[in-house]
Amino acid sequence: MRDAGTLRVGGRVHFGFGARAQLPSILQVHGTRVLAVVDPFLLSGGQTSGSPGRPPGPGHRPELPLGLRLPDDARIFSDITPELPVGTLDAAGAMAREFAPDVIVAIGGGSALDAAKLIALLATHDGPLSRYYGENLVPGPVVPVVALPTTAGTGSEVTPVAVVSDPDRELKVGISSPFLVPAAAIVDPELTMGAPATVTAYSGIDALVHAAESFTARRLDLDWSAPLPVFTGRNALSEPLSLQAAAHLGPWLPVAVREPDDRRARQEVALGSLQAGMAFGSTGTHLCHALQYPIGALTKTPHGLGTGLLLPYVLDAISSAGRVASFGAALEGIPESEASPERTIARVAEINRYIGVPASLAGIGVTRDQLPRIADLALGSARLLAIAPIDPTRDVLLDILERAFAGGKP
Ligand SMILES: NC(=O)c1ccc[n+]([C@@H]2O[C@H](COP(=O)([O-])OP(=O)(O)OC[C@H]3O[C@@H](n4cnc5c(N)ncnc54)[C@H](O)[C@@H]3O)[C@@H](O)[C@H]2O)c1
Ligand SMILES: [Fe+2]
Repeated sequence: MRDAGTLRVGGRVHFGFGARAQLPSILQVHGTRVLAVVDPFLLSGGQTSGSPGRPPGPGHRPELPLGLRLPDDARIFSDITPELPVGTLDAAGAMAREFAPDVIVAIGGGSALDAAKLIALLATHDGPLSRYYGENLVPGPVVPVVALPTTAGTGSEVTPVAVVSDPDRELKVGISSPFLVPAAAIVDPELTMGAPATVTAYSGIDALVHAAESFTARRLDLDWSAPLPVFTGRNALSEPLSLQAAAHLGPWLPVAVREPDDRRARQEVALGSLQAGMAFGSTGTHLCHALQYPIGALTKTPHGLGTGLLLPYVLDAISSAGRVASFGAALEGIPESEASPERTIARVAEINRYIGVPASLAGIGVTRDQLPRIADLALGSARLLAIAPIDPTRDVLLDILERAFAGGKP
């Protein structure tokens, strides 16, 4: 018997159109002092009476779109800077510590959710954030976070990780700890209906990469009597979630990008993203992510654009380890007997083309002489490489990069 599994999710996960109506009752469970970390797009157009970082004035209920309700005296923080520079979060953490919330509600894209998770950390434990860079360094529970994503892709509402940028570091850096898993996740596809096509495409394809990498991750031999790593490799509990995520995303991500008002498509992509987040939050991700971090830093391109671009080339490189065909069967809803690694890779490349993810690294501004440096930097992502299904040597990484640079058929 080799099967074993780890799944870490918060106390409640709600999914479905209208699920946001659960927010007040979930907040009540945790207490009355509420700090809301709100994506600035929700506050634009005068939709709220609360000012960022300050309590709303007396008699003013902070109003959010779509009937999202916060308590009258909730404090709102919405100063969320793209790429989450660590300095902005250290400052927000100091504000949160003084306010001493019972609960933090996070509403927004992956950046806002990650910001809220880190503000919850700093509201409880001493800063600066840099002391927690890496894995399992958060010393204990943090202020509970209730997360409502407005994009479908990152899975941050259920994952143990948050990513920041630090001017002292070349690459974006992750803080990973089971204590960062939000206490509750409310995934209401209605909140994603207005997301622009590029956000839908890049977040959505990242969810497909999460599904693919969690399904193909190496199986680790865990020592149950020792502290567990945050990312535990492919396992019996995550596997069905990865496949279900692929089945929801494969047919419906292209529709959500091209027909943004299609409610069924938004629902399927939100569900696939949530399932992929639940899966990779325990298994971890591997080669696409290890390679995207340096590529993102060099080209300033969105995370999902890079991971999605790399996926066909990584699937090709790992096909000798098996499982790529099974992933493709789920992706296309076809019998295993009709599936093959080649067909899976072709379908992923087709989805990328259709939703506007470029096919080559040259197409996003990478130059050939940068490839060795990218490989070297990716080699530094030891925790990601540890769960790759093939031995991720420098030559293997360079080969993937060369093919992705050339573009075309992997
Ligand atoms: N914690 C994790 O597990 C995890 C996983 C993957 C990625 N990430 C991180 O998440 C970030 C990317 O998140 P993202 O893809 O959700 O994008 P994002 O949060 O950066 O949002 C992109 C833009 O879309 C806007 N936006 C969000 N929802 C919208 C909506 N419904 N309508 C209109 N505009 C909307 C935002 O204001 C922002 O301007 C990156 O920083 C990445 O590193 C985290
Ligand atoms: Fe990702």
